[in-house]
Amino acid sequence: MLVSLAKDCHNPSMRENATQDSIDAVRLDASRQLDPERKSEFGQFMTPAAIAAFMASLFSATTRTIHLLDAGAGVGSLTNAFLTRFQDSTASVEAWEIDPVLKMVLADTLASHARAGLASTIHNSDFIEDAAWNISMGGGVRFTHAILNPPYRKIKSDSKHRYLLRDVGVETVNLYTAFLALAILLMEEGGEIVAIVPRSFCNGTYYRPFREQLLRSCAIEHIHVFEARNKAFSDDDVLQENIVVKLKKAGAQGEVKVSESHDSTFGDYHERALPFGQIVKDGDAERFIHIPVLAYAGDGAHGLFSHSLKELGIEVCTGPVVDFRLREHCRAVPESGTVPLIYAHHFSDGKLVYPKAHKKPNAILLAEETRKWLMPNGFYVLTKRFSSKEERRRVVAFVIDPSELPAPFYGFENHLNVFHIAKHGMDRETARGLALFLNSTVVDSHFRIFSGHTQVNATDLRQMRYPGHEQLLELGRLVTAETHDQAAIDRLIKEVETRWQSTYSKGARLELFFHHQNISTLAPNALSARSPALGHS
Ligand SMILES: C[S@@+](CC[C@H](N)C(=O)[O-])C[C@H]1O[C@@H](n2cnc3c(N)ncnc32)[C@H](O)[C@@H]1O
Repeated sequence: MLVSLAKDCHNPSMRENATQDSIDAVRLDASRQLDPERKSEFGQFMTPAAIAAFMASLFSATTRTIHLLDAGAGVGSLTNAFLTRFQDSTASVEAWEIDPVLKMVLADTLASHARAGLASTIHNSDFIEDAAWNISMGGGVRFTHAILNPPYRKIKSDSKHRYLLRDVGVETVNLYTAFLALAILLMEEGGEIVAIVPRSFCNGTYYRPFREQLLRSCAIEHIHVFEARNKAFSDDDVLQENIVVKLKKAGAQGEVKVSESHDSTFGDYHERALPFGQIVKDGDAERFIHIPVLAYAGDGAHGLFSHSLKELGIEVCTGPVVDFRLREHCRAVPESGTVPLIYAHHFSDGKLVYPKAHKKPNAILLAEETRKWLMPNGFYVLTKRFSSKEERRRVVAFVIDPSELPAPFYGFENHLNVFHIAKHGMDRETARGLALFLNSTVVDSHFRIFSGHTQVNATDLRQMRYPGHEQLLELGRLVTAETHDQAAIDRLIKEVETRWQSTYSKGARLELFFHHQNISTLAPNALSARSPALGHS
């Protein structure tokens, strides 16, 4: 059955895009309703929204017309994430889903994206049959993008699928490699595929013909590993070890980005670029795909991304003062009875310049009506909520030092995020260490991957993980006037991290998790302002 949604495109305001939360609710609801036998037969394990958003963020930014393939689309979590990222592109989507119940939900998901410039087609049919037919007829659609979480099931040697695949030169033993192989054949040159698949194809003699096809036709650009075996699909209790791969059809094979996270929160995400020779060894007839994982301390007790803010007892909120709501209490310059009202522009080169001649006020009256929006004197860490695309770093942090700003209270304007402890300040070293960490390239890389837009929301900061308190203190103690310089910040972070590693690592964990020389190669594709943010509410 074919359901074309293009006709709905004239009235985009009728529907709202499925958000991460809503698509996850749909996914869990659909998953509960599926017949367990059918679920296993068709490999109906759906992708959590956070992973889908991560996958969508891996595609390169593009201005060209998109032809997207989602084969085995389920409720449409992947296409939803893709269309959320490429909201302004002219695009046509073709989704295959064999299950009639899931197809209905998928239709709703696609309909939620209906807009001018977007055409969607759902094929309620067998992708292997349709794709093999298209390919053998020498035509068929050539896609520019494919986003896949294919079904996983053995293909019997005498099955119809096996014959159909063989007809188009695909020799493989599992549905997931069959879907991936067909997707590769259906891609245009330069087309990008991002797929979440079991990692079993990377070795095993049965998968060798598939590996050969993959390596012959595509460049491997990125491999993401979930460190905990069952974390990617924890709702479905899937024990398969899954990886996300990004392939480029007919791409020139360069370095391969290898990233890891413990689970789908990506809170401890880290990555590095490796020479292809470390992934597929020269002269290896089996063409095994190695994924060198790091002896990473990020998930250990002493890593850079080891603690939640909650564990540190620190909170973050958006600056409580919305100036236009308190306009009559704001003052252009400080005067008797006022306290400082701090904006991002009060910081220049990391230093406080206060008061500052500006169209915005510098002070706010300390009065009964304003008191609840103010915070008492102390050390606070502030970050800008909005940065321009041109800005070097996404996260820009400053320390409010009460010795530079003597006043009983401060007003922090709403375009800032404020790190505080129970609405009070914190000790000097923690504040300095935290700001230094936030200003590091490691954190910047983290944000560029997970937050394609230029905003840094308190939610993002709340979800990120941080060094432990001892480490923050150590960083804070080492900060000097010169540590505003990016190289100096990164050097200090690396220095301290190296020390922790050698102090706390056991044997094999000595390898450093971050190679700073690779930092500049991180996620240029994730810079697009349209890339989805993981974990946003
Ligand atoms: C692993 S699930 C992934 C669903 C969705 N892509 C996601 O990420 O949430 C695979 C989907 O493929 C569908 N499927 C299985 N065999 C298929 C086939 N031969 N043709 C089309 N769809 C198929 C299943 O019904 C299931 O919804």
